Amino acid sequence: MESNSDLIDLVRDEFLKLHGRNDRMVIVRSPGRINLIGEHTDYNEGFVLPSAIDRAIYLAVAPARGFEVTITSLDFKDDMRFDSREPSRSDSTWANYMIGIVDQLSRAGHPVKGFNCVYAGDIPIGSGMSSSAAVEVGLAYGLDRIFSLGIGRTELARIAQRSENEFVGVRCGIMDQFANLLSKGDSALYLDCRSLDYVHIPFVKKDLKFVLCDSGVKHSLASSEYNLRRQQCEAGVQILRKYHPQVRSLRDVNLEMLQRHESELGSTVYKRCTYVAEENMRVDSARRYLNQNDYAGFGELLYKSHEGLREKYEVTCMELDVLVEAASKIQGVLGARMMGGGFGGCTLNLVEGESAREFEREIREVYVQKTGKIPQIYECVLTPGTDVVPD
Ligand code: GLA
Repeated sequence: MESNSDLIDLVRDEFLKLHGRNDRMVIVRSPGRINLIGEHTDYNEGFVLPSAIDRAIYLAVAPARGFEVTITSLDFKDDMRFDSREPSRSDSTWANYMIGIVDQLSRAGHPVKGFNCVYAGDIPIGSGMSSSAAVEVGLAYGLDRIFSLGIGRTELARIAQRSENEFVGVRCGIMDQFANLLSKGDSALYLDCRSLDYVHIPFVKKDLKFVLCDSGVKHSLASSEYNLRRQQCEAGVQILRKYHPQVRSLRDVNLEMLQRHESELGSTVYKRCTYVAEENMRVDSARRYLNQNDYAGFGELLYKSHEGLREKYEVTCMELDVLVEAASKIQGVLGARMMGGGFGGCTLNLVEGESAREFEREIREVYVQKTGKIPQIYECVLTPGTDVVPD
């Protein structure tokens, strides 16, 4: 099943213990996500192909008296109180993901009153499955429901993204929040990050599995290098725009333009921009392969994406490269690549169902042998996006 009934019972019971019964309480399931392909393309107004998965944050949320907000994190065994009219940055990182939402709702013209929230989840933190977007969106969605704010899903995604950009300080794109809110289940979400137009592409081959291998590396460089990659992409756009005024972002750039201006771009910016242009083309091919049920062709694109992330975008690390290289030699694997921002986290592996057990055994063995670390392995299922859990 896509919901974790133990966690639903847990947040409901803890809410009752802490705040008593409240008929206006809702429980929201807010999922993590994987990204099949289209990495570091979202903030370049390009294309991505993510989906929500069967790991999630569960939040029990209900209005409280006045303007007092109480949020309890059962995973961090911590709580926080503040006045909803004065959301200000806290010393605890987890709290900022929540306070930022209250701040952004108010800036968007939806100031909220007091509320209580108790939450817990089963998305591994720092593994690239977007637990942070799940927390942000889960709260925004819960508040939208209990206060009947009437904000649409696309706008909620934007509000949650702005909260992370401005309050938490990571200049992430829109992919994670959008996938969290607009995924459909058993399908990938093909999203144009400029227009925010999207289509769901059914993933019909049921005997293929998505297996995540967690490198266990949580690189401290991740957010500073992430912001640096964004700057390098923007530097490329500045130069190309002098010659091609129609260029607004790397979305508008092709390989021929890049080659023509290679020396002015300089080798680093040239490599970064080339990766983005190629990755956008790969997402387009991926969509075509999926529509034709060509999963072998689709899998090959995953390897190519990883190669680009390693050689041109330079956001992989030794452990991720070891995992992808090992996967490529195992029977029944159609494709593999690092997933998310990079510098650690998980690899995504597309594996024939009947080979999945043997794959897990072999990859664990190689990883332990080459790095001395034991990888966590998770199989995941594509699920619908955030919603209220039925009573
Ligand atoms: C992180 C960000 C996303 C996206 C990916 C890279 O997950 O939150 O917006 O940029 O990295 O594709």
